[in-house]
Amino acid sequence: MSDTTPLDDAQLAESVLPAGADPFVLFEEWFAAAQVGEMNDPNAMALATATPDGAPSVRMVLLKGHGSSETAGGGFTFFTNAESRKGGQIRANMQAALLFHWKSLRRQIRIEGPLAEVSPERVDAYFHSRPYKSQVGSAASDQSRALPDRQTYLDRVQELWAAHEAEGKVPRPPHWTGFTLSPRRIEFWIDRDNRLHDRREFIRDGADGPWSDTLLYP
Ligand SMILES: Cc1cc2nc3c(=O)[nH]c(=O)nc-3n(C[C@H](O)[C@H](O)[C@H](O)COP(=O)(O)O)c2cc1C
Repeated sequence: MSDTTPLDDAQLAESVLPAGADPFVLFEEWFAAAQVGEMNDPNAMALATATPDGAPSVRMVLLKGHGSSETAGGGFTFFTNAESRKGGQIRANMQAALLFHWKSLRRQIRIEGPLAEVSPERVDAYFHSRPYKSQVGSAASDQSRALPDRQTYLDRVQELWAAHEAEGKVPRPPHWTGFTLSPRRIEFWIDRDNRLHDRREFIRDGADGPWSDTLLYP
């Protein structure tokens, strides 16, 4: 590339993000690439929630289901403690934003939309699909509430472990649940040389509405 113009490489001049694509299909392609290209937790995503008066907060969670089908819940699913800080915000304001950043792939996806709680059957199935020690660790946690000292938590873990070890599974706490974000806006971002990044945003009005898309200035 010459120093006088950033546009002399033809490849840089055109978008590689297909117009009219189905963003769910594009997401699947990128997510599959992340399984190979991103070493640690390629399903890790930032989850932003907000209080009803608009004060935001953000933390990482793991994507545990995705897709437009009914079985996948028509969106992007994560699991958490509904009595946590995020849980309180979600209960009061059922909207969220998700962000994937796959640094090694130099790609980002932003997703926004309303949330719906996952059915108890699906939450149970996921909770009990996890290793026993993860079930114990999450059931013993009053997530986001003040902990007097670490030993208090470790004692609860030990107690729960002993109580359910014979069955090899812990009853799911009723406040441990999942949410599916039904996307209304999905933006794909690719890092391109010289800051000539490539962005395409897909928007729709309702859960079944048609997608429209546009390129965005980087
Ligand atoms: C990579 C990564 C994945 C995580 N996955 C989850 C998750 O799936 N569910 C969850 O409740 N917390 C997860 N956490 C912990 C959250 O980031 C956070 O500490 C916790 O949910 C409490 O958040 P809150 O106080 O905003 O409710 C994860 C943290 C990291 C770094």
